Amino acid sequence: MAEQLGNLTRTHTCGALRPDDVGSDVVLLGWVHRVRDLGGLLFVDVRDRAGVTQVVFDKDDEVLMAKAKRLRSEFVIGVEGQVRRRSAETANAKLETGDVEVVVRKLTLLNEAKTPPFPVADDTPVSEDVRLKYRYLDLRRPRLQGNIGLRHRVTTAIRKYFDANGFWEIETPILTKSTPEGARDYLVPSRVHPGEFFALPQSPQLFKQILMVSGIDRYVQICRCFRDEDLRADRQPEFTQVDVEMSFARPETIFSMIEPLMHDVFAVVGRTISTPFQRMPYAEAMAKYGSDKPDLRCGMPIQDFREIFGDSGFRVFREIVAGGGTVRGFVVKQAGGYSRSEVDGIVDQAKQMGAAGLVWARRAEDGTITSSVMKALGEVEVRRLLDTSSTGNGELLLVAAGEPDATSKLLGQIRLALARQKGLLNPEEYAFLWVVDFPLLEWDPEDKRYVSMHHPFTSPHDDDFALLADQPGKVRAKAYDLVLNGSEIGGGSIRIHDAAQQRRIFSLLNISDEEAKLRFGFFLEALEYGTPPHGGIALGLDRMVALLANESSIREVIAFPKTAAAIDMMSNAPSPVDPKQLRELHLLPKK
Ligand code: AMO
Repeated sequence: MAEQLGNLTRTHTCGALRPDDVGSDVVLLGWVHRVRDLGGLLFVDVRDRAGVTQVVFDKDDEVLMAKAKRLRSEFVIGVEGQVRRRSAETANAKLETGDVEVVVRKLTLLNEAKTPPFPVADDTPVSEDVRLKYRYLDLRRPRLQGNIGLRHRVTTAIRKYFDANGFWEIETPILTKSTPEGARDYLVPSRVHPGEFFALPQSPQLFKQILMVSGIDRYVQICRCFRDEDLRADRQPEFTQVDVEMSFARPETIFSMIEPLMHDVFAVVGRTISTPFQRMPYAEAMAKYGSDKPDLRCGMPIQDFREIFGDSGFRVFREIVAGGGTVRGFVVKQAGGYSRSEVDGIVDQAKQMGAAGLVWARRAEDGTITSSVMKALGEVEVRRLLDTSSTGNGELLLVAAGEPDATSKLLGQIRLALARQKGLLNPEEYAFLWVVDFPLLEWDPEDKRYVSMHHPFTSPHDDDFALLADQPGKVRAKAYDLVLNGSEIGGGSIRIHDAAQQRRIFSLLNISDEEAKLRFGFFLEALEYGTPPHGGIALGLDRMVALLANESSIREVIAFPKTAAAIDMMSNAPSPVDPKQLRELHLLPKK
């Protein structure tokens, strides 16, 4: 039977007591973490959010001891007693409170607990489905408590930073009109207006731009966004953005506002990062790393070898170059120890990733040169290839040929896979990068039309307006992504602030005037009332915290995440609803 809390008042958390407290009378409230029964003495570790403290029951008090013997893991208790020093032999250096213990005088049993489906007190691996079903128990475990606490400290640092820089945090609606960010909307049927729907925001994009029209000047919001898209380790159907917008901003204005923010965020985990961050045009990122979010921790840039293969004896590659294709490759670091079969394994792996063929050349530790194209190319050319690419002793050069974008993308994937396998991605290193000058549009071969690479409110580059009419695919955007260790942690742009220009972009995107009016009429109208030049960014909070916590999935830093199948295992949502509700919402015919 659970006892009442009554007047029992906590004097210390379970992480607080130190040798200075020896002799004090204290009250601790918390969960039974572990019980050790040594016959004459019963030790209980009591846990709360702040830590664990050992408390001791002595057999001399029989009534108290009998009550203590009923304690099981995860019971909720209150203990009153006196702090004493542990002997040198029994002190526990692993616990911050490990030099002391509390000799219990009174035990209050505040609640019992069923035997948990997995132990809370240790880190035994448990399937994610079970962890998510019993998330409240999972959240008691130190790893998740640490992550959730870290998340709180990060959001606090973010709010403090933006407040100090004159930003106002403003809430924008959750029941709203659909804003296109490229994913499907979650829709909410209206009861009052039959057949009409709200959409949950994929981002507050239009509202934050309208706030600039309203003269708010600097806006920030730590906001929930909803996207019905395929899920991965770094994607959730509802996730949190740090959403930012500034009036009179150039890309540099945004960069120089976000870089010190990152400094403050990383200071939360005691890390100092250096600013300014590197900047790289999209075209360079794609050519050199085969990705618009390159992980720069492992180096190994992709290089161009058309010159060597263009008139070489290696017919296949020569013909690819003659046909306008490319020959590119990169040097694999620390590959001296690769056996011949390991190299063959890499080639096989590349084929599985879609490579038509991958050739290689290498210098062994002793400088001996070998290559899969030694015969076709000849030793002199292989040596030239290794020299040009700066392949050192103990390094391996991998080369592929084909259509330029596809070749770089493929090499980029192989590069990352090898870097992971070889442990070349140091988790202690933070390689930030601004990827800039994204193309404004990309061609959608299915719909046979241009679509926005970011969103349709992104401004073209000042120098590229002339290309809009004839070569829209070549127009660069004033758009940028913030990349950290190969993960896109933010994206934004300078916006179009001129209504006529916005209409022109809609028409380039094949959005008719009528459709534009229907979907964005309110926004186009707002643009006509004195809109200042403006721009912003949204940072993925979940991804940032996951990187800070060194977690590979954002689910580890979200208190109640959905599974990869977009289900809440704990509450069992989504779930069927009463037909009466559906009729009220006009989703079922009235009886
Ligand atoms: P974007 O769509 O690039 O930009 O989103 C910004 C950042 O949000 C994070 N993110 C996600 N995190 C978890 N789960 C998801 N499903 C998910 N989708 C995106 C990423 C991403 O970089 N309105 C624009 C911002 C702007 O232009 O200011 C926007 O939403 O880290």
